[in-house]
Amino acid sequence: MSNLALIMAAGQGTRMKSNTPKVLHQILDAPLVQYVISAAQAAGCERTLVITGHQREEVEAVLPDTVEKIYQAERIGTANTVLTAEQALEGAQGKLVVLSGDVPLLRPETLQALMEACTGSAMAVLTAHVDDPMGYGRVLRNEYGTISGIVEEKDATEEQRLITEINTGIYCFELEGLFDRLRKIGNDNAQHEYYLTDIVQVCLDEEASVGSITVSDASETLGVNSRVQLAAATRVMQRRINEAWMMSGVTMVAPELCWVAPDVTLEPDTTLLPMTFLSGATKIASGCVIGPDTRIINSSIGAGSLVDSSIVLYSEVGQRADIGPRAYLRPGCVLENDVKIGTSVELKGTHVGSGTKIPHLSYIGDAKVGADVNIGAGSITCNYDGQKKSRTVIGDSAFIGSSTMIVAPVTIGAHATTGAASAITKDVPDGALAVERGDQTIIEGWAQRRHPGDNADAPGKEAH
Ligand code: UD1
Ligand code: CA
Repeated sequence: MSNLALIMAAGQGTRMKSNTPKVLHQILDAPLVQYVISAAQAAGCERTLVITGHQREEVEAVLPDTVEKIYQAERIGTANTVLTAEQALEGAQGKLVVLSGDVPLLRPETLQALMEACTGSAMAVLTAHVDDPMGYGRVLRNEYGTISGIVEEKDATEEQRLITEINTGIYCFELEGLFDRLRKIGNDNAQHEYYLTDIVQVCLDEEASVGSITVSDASETLGVNSRVQLAAATRVMQRRINEAWMMSGVTMVAPELCWVAPDVTLEPDTTLLPMTFLSGATKIASGCVIGPDTRIINSSIGAGSLVDSSIVLYSEVGQRADIGPRAYLRPGCVLENDVKIGTSVELKGTHVGSGTKIPHLSYIGDAKVGADVNIGAGSITCNYDGQKKSRTVIGDSAFIGSSTMIVAPVTIGAHATTGAASAITKDVPDGALAVERGDQTIIEGWAQRRHPGDNADAPGKEAH
């Protein structure tokens, strides 16, 4: 006996008004369908089948290898969607949870409770009480309170539309007999679709029992059919994730202005300031202050670091880093401990040794910078000659004078110094000084020669 999951993700999602398939729209940088897959797997489902249809290739391309992909050729209704999996499930025994790819907030615990409610019954439905049931199927109950049917809004009578208990579209079925029952469902209804919801009637006709549980937090079953609902679901998920991090010791000055993706990890005593976006598999160690206005994607930040108003992409940052304001770490940077990357500094594919400072207005790309190096304001690596990229190596304790142009490929030795404003095109030996610039020329009395009418006694006078 096992628990399996089937995720319906074949629909078009017309109301999104998008070229992107609905289940690939994102909450906190992860596609909707990924949340549903994670919930099914976290609830202990051993196999997860995803039914694709509309824009199949795009959807299948983002599905993880841990799911089985099944194609529904025609979108003729949710009963047919489940029937599509019959061959794949041949011989399987146990329970099948049916989920929608556009209901991303469902908790694994709720799924587990639903599977339990299905024990001893042919099926169990997850229902919810909502203030505004518009658009949902309504749950019908008999005088004993047991489910007697589900009626779609378009097929409901005026009276049935007043019912505020809705079908969330999430079910658990006993696999035995399921496909035979699905084949008994017709499409004689307002939308001429094969409704999965009609299986309730099929069960009751066979005197097979139908269970249900009602979700206590209705926000879990919020479906995403429009961009308005996408934003609402994002707010719920953001709050859920942020509250869990705050409970584990992370400070958020304004949690509604921090966006932390589901795979991010944060350690206690880190503070997130407003307008911080953390995504991918980012890891932030303890005692950091991140933000304001900061975006970090797939990167790790060591303990005790500050990242202020900056962007960090696919990079590793050591402990006690001081980054920003307005630093831009592009992919492939590795910063060892105690590094300072200051105002408006851009790094790409660069290894920076411990204790090194790049405090102001630099671009350092494709470089290996040693430990305890100081790179003066405005210095840059000229790593691209229009055709190819070349590497720069700077040894430990080198001192790069302000506005040095380092024309790669070039190596600057350990303890070497470059003069301010030099263009360095040749290797600099360890401990040497390299200066490359014309001698300064002084032309006395220049201002008066240029503007003979001006008062020569007023040297500070502004020239126009
Ligand atoms: C469905 C339920 C309704 C419930 C609501 C909850 C039916 C008949 N109705 O209505 O009672 O209140 O969900 O959100 O099931 N899909 C396919 N293939 C198809 C048709 C749909 O994969 O042929 C997928 C869709 O992509 C979607 C899910 O199934 O993920 C639900 O289909 P949708 O048409 O959105 O059903 P609702 O009208 O929302
Ligand atoms: Ca629909």
